[in-house]
Amino acid sequence: MNEHVHAPTLSERADEIEEKMMHDLAERIASKSVLFGMADGKVEIFDAAAFKAKNPDKYFLMGADPRLPKMPEKPTLIDFFNNRFASLNHLLQSATLALKNGHSEKIVLACLLHDIGVASFIRCDHGYWGAQMIEPYVDEEVSWAVRMHQALRFFPDPSVGYEYPQQYINNFGADYKPEPYIVREYERAKNHKWYMSARLICVNDIYSFDPNAKVNLDNFVDIIGRNFRQPEEGLGFDDSPSAHMWRTLMWPTRFL
Ligand SMILES: [Fe+2]
Ligand SMILES: [Fe+2]
Repeated sequence: MNEHVHAPTLSERADEIEEKMMHDLAERIASKSVLFGMADGKVEIFDAAAFKAKNPDKYFLMGADPRLPKMPEKPTLIDFFNNRFASLNHLLQSATLALKNGHSEKIVLACLLHDIGVASFIRCDHGYWGAQMIEPYVDEEVSWAVRMHQALRFFPDPSVGYEYPQQYINNFGADYKPEPYIVREYERAKNHKWYMSARLICVNDIYSFDPNAKVNLDNFVDIIGRNFRQPEEGLGFDDSPSAHMWRTLMWPTRFL
């Protein structure tokens, strides 16, 4: 038996939390936001003051995290696709299908961007997050459609052959019922002039990755160029209402 095994003291526990909440990058300390810890079932915050008291010569990171892919000074949407979106397959396959089905560039762009919330940021309410990120840069109809696909995907529309996805039954159980806010959003969207644009995101949403499909972001560069108002200053630096979201994605471990 190891005589040194003991219940952690309060200060050891604090050190443990501290370690989990930050990463020492030699020069700078990368901070872990409270939200990141919640994914592990913990609501806890890194005690920066206590850490500084013990490590007066250390500083916190206030910019790029060297562990993450480097972003250019004036990042474009394509740079985020390449360096911050964890998976492109689903987005590219959905957009490819929309293109094949002969939809307008607006719909193709909506399909290409519909799940950037999930691909880069957060799953919960991903349609809302994604719509907010792109709102200043796309036609209003595109961001509206991305926002509303969040709700519409839970409701069938036989007029366009859209069934409740089998994948949702597999993922959430047969008894999952959308919450009232989702139902209310669906009711609002159903009577909206752009209903079909949001619905077409669901219709072209590919629920399973086809490993044989050949998809490439290059096929969409022109559509992005014509339909996404890339700010000259770079996404994140143009003072738009969602610039902070792109910056956060660029610098997720910045102290403040
Ligand atoms: Fe989605
Ligand atoms: Fe999707």
